[in-house]
Amino acid sequence: MPATVSFAVDPRLATLLGDAYRSTEQAIKELVDNAWDADAETVNITLPAEMSDIPITIEDDGSGMTEEELRSEYLKVARDRRALKGNQTAAKRRQVRGRRGIGKFSGLMVAEQMEICTKARGRESKLLIERAELMKARSDFEAVQFPFSSQACDPKEYGTTITLASLNRRLSHPNPEKLRRILVLDYGRAIDLKIFVNGQLATLHDIPGEAYSVAQKLPTVRAVKMSFAISDGKQAVKHPGIVIKVNGKPIGEPSFFGLDRREDVPPQVLKRVYGKIEADGLLEDVTADWAAVVENSTAYQELESYVQEVLREELGKTFRREFSLVHSRIKQQIEKRLAALPEHRRDFAHRHLEKILQRFYGENEEKIQAIVTVVLDALERDEYWEVLRAVHAAEHGDVEHLASALTAFGLLELVFIGKQTKSRFEVLNRLDLLVANPSTLESQMHQAIDHNLWILGSKYALVSSNRTMKKIVEEYTDTAYKGDNAAKRPDLLLLSEMYGRHLLIEFKRPSKTISRDDETQAQKYRDDLGTRFHPMQILLIGGAVDKSLRLNPGKDIEYFSYADLLARAGSEVDWLMKSLSEPPSTLKLHIR
Ligand SMILES: Nc1ncnc2c1ncn2[C@@H]1O[C@H](COP(=O)(O)OP(=O)(O)OP(=O)(O)O)[C@@H](O)[C@H]1O
Ligand SMILES: [Mg+2]
Repeated sequence: MPATVSFAVDPRLATLLGDAYRSTEQAIKELVDNAWDADAETVNITLPAEMSDIPITIEDDGSGMTEEELRSEYLKVARDRRALKGNQTAAKRRQVRGRRGIGKFSGLMVAEQMEICTKARGRESKLLIERAELMKARSDFEAVQFPFSSQACDPKEYGTTITLASLNRRLSHPNPEKLRRILVLDYGRAIDLKIFVNGQLATLHDIPGEAYSVAQKLPTVRAVKMSFAISDGKQAVKHPGIVIKVNGKPIGEPSFFGLDRREDVPPQVLKRVYGKIEADGLLEDVTADWAAVVENSTAYQELESYVQEVLREELGKTFRREFSLVHSRIKQQIEKRLAALPEHRRDFAHRHLEKILQRFYGENEEKIQAIVTVVLDALERDEYWEVLRAVHAAEHGDVEHLASALTAFGLLELVFIGKQTKSRFEVLNRLDLLVANPSTLESQMHQAIDHNLWILGSKYALVSSNRTMKKIVEEYTDTAYKGDNAAKRPDLLLLSEMYGRHLLIEFKRPSKTISRDDETQAQKYRDDLGTRFHPMQILLIGGAVDKSLRLNPGKDIEYFSYADLLARAGSEVDWLMKSLSEPPSTLKLHIR
């Protein structure tokens, strides 16, 4: 064997040495994936203290590589090992993670030098790869020679140690907590791989959020041990759910034990659960291929209700704690509008909105706003209420049957929101025609939008106009623009926002482009009216918006072309329609 070796490579891969990984920790995880694929049982990672020049080491007790394997497997870039060696590892039958043949380079994102020391079948081989050399070679990796040595070692010793020296200073220093957190989300449920970072085992407790461990003796399944974490939601859990382990082997995919079919458990909270349950008593109920547990077996059902009970309790606590915080803003809006409803409707409306909030918990707030606004709009309408009452009265008749067939928002929400959403589409289509017509006046646009404030979108969901404000604006424009000046009279709409702010909209005709002059003029209206209504945001809407305004927008002022506005409203309506036609399968709002 010569004292140097080189990569056999596809030239496209030169770019790989760029920053393909999001963080140092993610890059290190690639190397742990390799240890997993090598059937390692223990991985020891040491991260140096900050500011020190000590290298990072990743040491595994896996299969290691022989000289020949180093050459043919390690140094072959972009080789799909699964195509050659199958989907499962040789000794432990693990699902193979490697697929692209490039993961090893992650080490070179973190460090200038990567040393591979690997032991297998009585030989220890060492290889030193320098990032700078590879970078110099660009597409011609094969031309780069790396120092290589090999010597005899104890034939009982197996495993690989990667040493990363001269760490890349552009990257933040690897953080042991963050690394454990990343690793545990992938390996926390594996029982045959232990990963230590600076001597500390990565466990479910590394998931930010709450971790739980419970043990119980069930009548049929007997002893079960469950450990799980509910993450704080800041980092997505990749494969959420609880995995069943029987005699140490995972059975099938992680699942939620039927909780995902319950309407009182918000799916967004479920997605944060990560854990395992050891239930050796299920041995008799596992299918022959170990891929599933026979679901209608008594033992499984017993386990299912146990897991449901434990999880529901903890999820309920987590949910209640966060729910009140997250939705307090939206709740204020609801309370305010509900207060205006006749008392007998209020309670009913309240319960329905709670369910919607719960259902969409964890979704983007704007989306929830949009839904809540539409539902509130619908609830305020008399005909909606009439049907509500009728359905309520027919509780035990056909309606129940029908209601359970309807998902998403439940019967009422589906029918009414659907109807309303469709009519909003209609309105938008008509407005499109109006905008396209060159003879349309600002006053016509003003009227149309004034009666359809929802067009302003969920951002302005909490605005309303009232007679007093209309009168004030009228008086103001009437006094300032009479006689010869009348033609210059602006078309203004003053709205109040729930949080004490005001919104002044100036409408221009659809054939007009909004310019800097218009902005200055609008700011003057604000100054004049602003003494009484403060603070005040301005919205200028016209046929088009001058580019300079878009590039350099003023403070507290927004400009829209009618087309922008309608397109934005259109996509909100569109989203609502989609939510209605593809309802999450787990939602059932019963009318009771
Ligand atoms: N720690 C290790 N122990 C034993 N063999 C290893 C180790 N690390 C890498 N190898 C061998 O080197 C090969 C190349 O590793 P590399 O990470 O570049 O690619 P991969 O794991 O096949 O695919 P991916 O790019 O998706 O990670 C592996 O397939 C494996 O055969
Ligand atoms: Mg790999």
